[in-house]
Amino acid sequence: MAAKFKISSTLDCDVLVIGAGGAGLRCAAEILERKPGTRIVAVTKVPHCQKSHTSTAQGGLAAVDPKDPVDKPIYHMFDTWKGSDCMADQNVIKKIVDSAWEQIVWLENKGMHFSRNEEGRLSKRTFGGHTVRFGESSAYRAVFEADRTGKGIMDSVWGETLRGGVSFVNQSIATELLLKDGRCVGAVLFRECKGEFVAVCAKATVFATGGDGQIFRVTTNCRQNTGDGLSNVLDAGLPVMDLEAVQFHPTGIVGPGILASETLRSVGGILRNRDLEPFMEKYAPKMKELAPRDLVARAIETEIQEGRGIMNPDHNIEHVWIDLRHLSDYIHEVQIPEVTSFFKKFVNIDPKLDLCPVRPSNHYQMGGIPTTEFGEVQSTSGEIIRGLYAVGECAAASFHGFNRLGTNSILELITMGRFVGQRIVESLADQLPELPAATGKKTFNLFSAYLDQTGKENLEEIREESRALMTEKVGVFRTEVGLSEAIETLKALKERAANTTLACKSLKMNPELVLRWELDNLLSISLVTAVCALNRQESRGGHARRDFPERKDEFNYHTLATMTEFAEVDLGKRAVDMSIFESNCENYERFGIIERTY
Ligand code: FUM
Repeated sequence: MAAKFKISSTLDCDVLVIGAGGAGLRCAAEILERKPGTRIVAVTKVPHCQKSHTSTAQGGLAAVDPKDPVDKPIYHMFDTWKGSDCMADQNVIKKIVDSAWEQIVWLENKGMHFSRNEEGRLSKRTFGGHTVRFGESSAYRAVFEADRTGKGIMDSVWGETLRGGVSFVNQSIATELLLKDGRCVGAVLFRECKGEFVAVCAKATVFATGGDGQIFRVTTNCRQNTGDGLSNVLDAGLPVMDLEAVQFHPTGIVGPGILASETLRSVGGILRNRDLEPFMEKYAPKMKELAPRDLVARAIETEIQEGRGIMNPDHNIEHVWIDLRHLSDYIHEVQIPEVTSFFKKFVNIDPKLDLCPVRPSNHYQMGGIPTTEFGEVQSTSGEIIRGLYAVGECAAASFHGFNRLGTNSILELITMGRFVGQRIVESLADQLPELPAATGKKTFNLFSAYLDQTGKENLEEIREESRALMTEKVGVFRTEVGLSEAIETLKALKERAANTTLACKSLKMNPELVLRWELDNLLSISLVTAVCALNRQESRGGHARRDFPERKDEFNYHTLATMTEFAEVDLGKRAVDMSIFESNCENYERFGIIERTY
């Protein structure tokens, strides 16, 4: 069948942005601001960029207001470093934190409706792990638009890219990264509605494909977050970094795992166990509910595993409670209206009257495609791949190390989007590159195999088995036995995937075909995640090994992983940038390998 496929058309542009969420569009907006008229094509997997995962972000974005009498950028840098469990790159921390407020002003100027207090100033809330004076007390550092901050960001960046003339290609996936003479020259797209393959020839290509949360059964992530960008990069022989660093948000709504924002704890929500005991003091005596996410998620899982959880009969899942009953009507109605409506809609609970059931839910991937502080994609040896960039959740520069602080992700996508856009403008080639002769061949072989293969296995069942396996064996707590079992099972699932039959053989409007492609991505990313987690014999941030509960200095490095054949994973290392510590600046000693208690 492969011989029947062809590239239907070739699109030439200056910049191809794969993924039209907050990071991709912020990057595009920056390019257009600096160089109006740049021809940008933005591809989104979903029917409209407003359906991107960024739109679901609730809590806010961290930024130190220069007029704040107490807070300082150095505190934010310290919190991010400590929160990362000494694994974030300090050059990136400094770059992002120093430009954070400028980006708030940019968003405000582009029409974002930040919530304001009675004096008319931007309202601020505190989030886990954000402190002033190096951990002395909570910092009020996150600005927000009620509890739908992501939607405000999408409205703003979408408006800018529309104004600047970005061409949007909706409901399309990038199936093949095109490299020629060590340089990225574009990608092959599959347009689902037309059933056509399009080659895009670009001077610069930006991956902004978001996270991989769908590798887990219980996740706050949107349906489209299947790790496609990471898979593309692995297929091209390039590395991914720190995939074992996975964030589980402490409060997913029990059952679906939908995000119940950390804002709930920021405004005074209390976590309680079966005996209604407020248990966080046991685990984080000082910060309690406002400890970082990895710690709170482990506290909840420990309560449940030690028999102090509550069984939810509808979902057959144990959970703890978040108690919001004591909060004022103002808080319920003005500060957390969205989350309140989620509890009502999805579990039929009124948070003003009832305890709300929550359990950790996969939320964020701290690792991703390794990049420089300008978003330039790097090879295993650290060499920059010309013409290729990554930004947002799919990228790892790395600002978050092994545990991201709440509200630092939106900050990252807005600031890094800007930096990557700036770097692209500075280094955009004059000439369009040439596409490789074999453009599309890989994709055609893959898609023809999907359509031709026969067997009795069920695509949806394999997908769900894989996701349940990851939640069970590669979740909040991990062990060597569990991770090894996960790896073996994933190999078996990959074999079973080759024995599925697609009911519809058409290229056009065939969601099953896309599901099949996604399944390969999910299995690849799950496998690499499990292998990296098995290799890291220590506990650090979101990576908690029951059999190796301590952090170890010998693992003070980022994990690089390549996989050209399924399950043939090669591991490498990238050093952690410690330039703040090494600069001997004031407070430099706070940026060493520090203890992490809250
Ligand atoms: O809990 C939240 O509102 C999520 C925020 C974040 O992930 O940064």
